[in-house]
Amino acid sequence: MSKALVLVDIPLPSFLQEMIGAQCETCPWDWLQANHLKLSQVKGVYTYGHAAVDGPLMDRLPALKVISNFGVGVDHIDLAAASLRNIPIGNTPGVLDGATADLTMALILAAARNIVIGDRFARGPDFVHYDPSHLLGSEVFGSTLGIIGLGRIGRQVARRAIGFEMRILYHSRRPVPDAEGVLGAKYVPLDDLLAESHFVTLNVPLTPETAGLIGESRLRKMRPDAILINVARGAIVDHAALYHALTEKWIAGAALDVTDPEPLPRDHPLLRLKNLVITPHLGSATWRTRRRMGEMTAANLIAGLNGQALPHQVRN
Ligand code: DGY
Repeated sequence: MSKALVLVDIPLPSFLQEMIGAQCETCPWDWLQANHLKLSQVKGVYTYGHAAVDGPLMDRLPALKVISNFGVGVDHIDLAAASLRNIPIGNTPGVLDGATADLTMALILAAARNIVIGDRFARGPDFVHYDPSHLLGSEVFGSTLGIIGLGRIGRQVARRAIGFEMRILYHSRRPVPDAEGVLGAKYVPLDDLLAESHFVTLNVPLTPETAGLIGESRLRKMRPDAILINVARGAIVDHAALYHALTEKWIAGAALDVTDPEPLPRDHPLLRLKNLVITPHLGSATWRTRRRMGEMTAANLIAGLNGQALPHQVRN
C-alpha cells in the first residue's frame, strides 16, 4: 500500500517521524510556495510549529482529509474553514498540563527571585563577594496568585500553588464548581484579581475574547509589586502596553514564555528589560510530554487518513 502524503510545516525530529513513517510520507511546507505538482495528492497536514492554516490553503489541497496539530492550542488554524470543508482537526489535550504548570511555577520563581539575572551575575566579573543586600526579590510562598483561566492547565497551577501556601484567586468565563473545595481557589471578578494578586498567570486559550485581554487599562489595575506570567499565547497581552508597564513601573516584572510575534524581532525593546524573564515557548517542552504529544498527533493523523473518527478531535 502506498504511503499517504502529509505536509509538515517544519521538519519533524526523528522520534516523531518514526511514529508516522510506516503510513506517511512527509513533504515540506516549501511545496506550497513552489506550487508543487503533488500538492493535489496531499492527504494530511501535520502542524508542528504553529504554521497558519486557513481556508485558501485548504483549497490548495483538494485531497486533504485531516489536519493534525502537535499541541493543544489551535488558534493558528481556521476552525470554521475546516469545518465548512469537513476536514477534522486533531490536537493533544490533557498530556501537557503538568509540564506547562511546572513551567508557570518556574517562571514565577525565576521572576520573583531574580534567578536569571542572578545566574548572569554569578558568572560575571562583578561577583567578588557575597552581598546580603544584593538582588532581593519577593516571596512566592504565602503570596496571592491570580489565575486567569481555570481550565486543565490553570488547575494544575493551582495545585502547585497550594504547596507554596499561596492564596489562590481565579477568574474564568464562569465559576468552576469544585474550585473552592478541591483547590482552595476563590472566584473573583477580573478587576479584583488584578488588583489583589502578587502574581497573575494567564492560562486561557487565544480566542477573539482573550486577544488583547491584558492591555493598558488592565495592567494599570495591577499592583506595583505584581508580576505577570504568560504561558498561554502572546497575543493575549498587548506588548506595547506591557513595555510601558515594565519601564514606568506600573508593575514590577513579567515572565513570558510566549510572545506576539514569536519570536519577537531581535531588536524589540522588551528584550532589553531586566525586569522581564523570557523563554522560547517551553511550556510543554519535556521529553515525556513531547513524546506523548507526538503519539496523540500521530494517532489523530492516521485515524483521519483512514477516514476514522479522530481520538482527539477539536470541536468548534
Ligand atoms: C500548545 O500545546 O498549544 C503549546 O503551546 C505547544 O504548541
